[in-house]
Amino acid sequence: MKILLFGGAFDPPHKGHVSILRKAAQFADFDRIIVMPTGTPTHKKGCVAPFDVRLHMAQLAFGSIAENVEISDYEGTNLKDDYTYLTLEYLKEKYDNPHIYMAIGSDSLLNLDSWKNAQQVMQNCTVLAFAREDDVQDDMAQKEIQLEKSGADIRFIKVEPIEFSSSQYRRGFGDENTEFLPQSVQNVIDEYDIYAQDDITRWKGTAKLLAKLLLDEKRYLHTLNVEKLAVELGTIYGLDTEKLQVAALLHDIMKNAPYDILLHRAKQSGIINRIEDKPKQTLHGFAAAHYAAKELDIQDEDILWAVKSHTCGRYGMQDMEKVIYLADMLCEERKFEGKDYLLGIARENLDRAMYEALEHSLKWIKSKGNTVDTDSLDALRYFSQMFGGTCEEERYER
Ligand SMILES: [Fe+2]
Ligand SMILES: [Fe+2]
Repeated sequence: MKILLFGGAFDPPHKGHVSILRKAAQFADFDRIIVMPTGTPTHKKGCVAPFDVRLHMAQLAFGSIAENVEISDYEGTNLKDDYTYLTLEYLKEKYDNPHIYMAIGSDSLLNLDSWKNAQQVMQNCTVLAFAREDDVQDDMAQKEIQLEKSGADIRFIKVEPIEFSSSQYRRGFGDENTEFLPQSVQNVIDEYDIYAQDDITRWKGTAKLLAKLLLDEKRYLHTLNVEKLAVELGTIYGLDTEKLQVAALLHDIMKNAPYDILLHRAKQSGIINRIEDKPKQTLHGFAAAHYAAKELDIQDEDILWAVKSHTCGRYGMQDMEKVIYLADMLCEERKFEGKDYLLGIARENLDRAMYEALEHSLKWIKSKGNTVDTDSLDALRYFSQMFGGTCEEERYER
């Protein structure tokens, strides 16, 4: 079995990438052509678009090149480091020891021996190096001799020079260079502001695309409803509605994630109480905050806390957290007795609404025989104290 592996950040994928892949695909009679966006790029720091967006753009750019093309999410979804030697090991095992041809650019060839476990990389694949005619004569030839001494199998494929790179695009050459991107990729970038220079514009657009890509239809509509109510409440209370939109769009982004990823992200999100104390259904908020910080590079504490505390609440919640918590509970499609009453209060007094909403939720959780989270009890105590109430928290203890 012959596999062609083409990895890259694809941030964004451009026509140069497409022509390289087309050319590489002709090198042999490949059974599979695997395009693999890098998870967290270890060689190239500073990706802008999150992995899931780059995966989507790779699908748009390369998906229709040939019938046997597969866009792999392996490097973004496995919990190991995404080193090439590990990826090759994975492919060797998955496809029962195939012959792997790895397509790389000439710049990658020059530093191939500095890759992690480079020896293992070179032993496990044939390297298809793309180079310009002139390069092959000079540096590349030297490098080839050097690497082949240590057992590497290197073949050169000569390409026309490509005077364009993804990083140039991101640095703002985008508008003038639209013809360098496949049209479908350009369309999604334009529609969702994937590379907008302004943080909040980029976060909002990217978060909306992610919600669309990662959530099922019902959850996506719920997310849009939360966004709508969050903006309404945020306007009443004079809050930053754009930040609220970002938090709303991301609050459930991990809802459909596999449990091991959920747990991994939640553990790393710096939660208040021990992870072992958290009921399973509350983990997705913590995991989503980690996703927002790591994948979208959002370091804004207002947004991160609003995402993080939307499942449990917490002692000392800030206004944006209250709004997302309430918008999540009281948005358009939710139907339960007392909803309209709570919504009315939410439009008049955020703290009072939180107090009553928490009471309502905890009673409901208890009635279902489920575990009440300790952060929720702390939150109830916090709001109860504000209104001079006695929080009979024993009622909710597990
Ligand atoms: Fe949620
Ligand atoms: Fe939600």
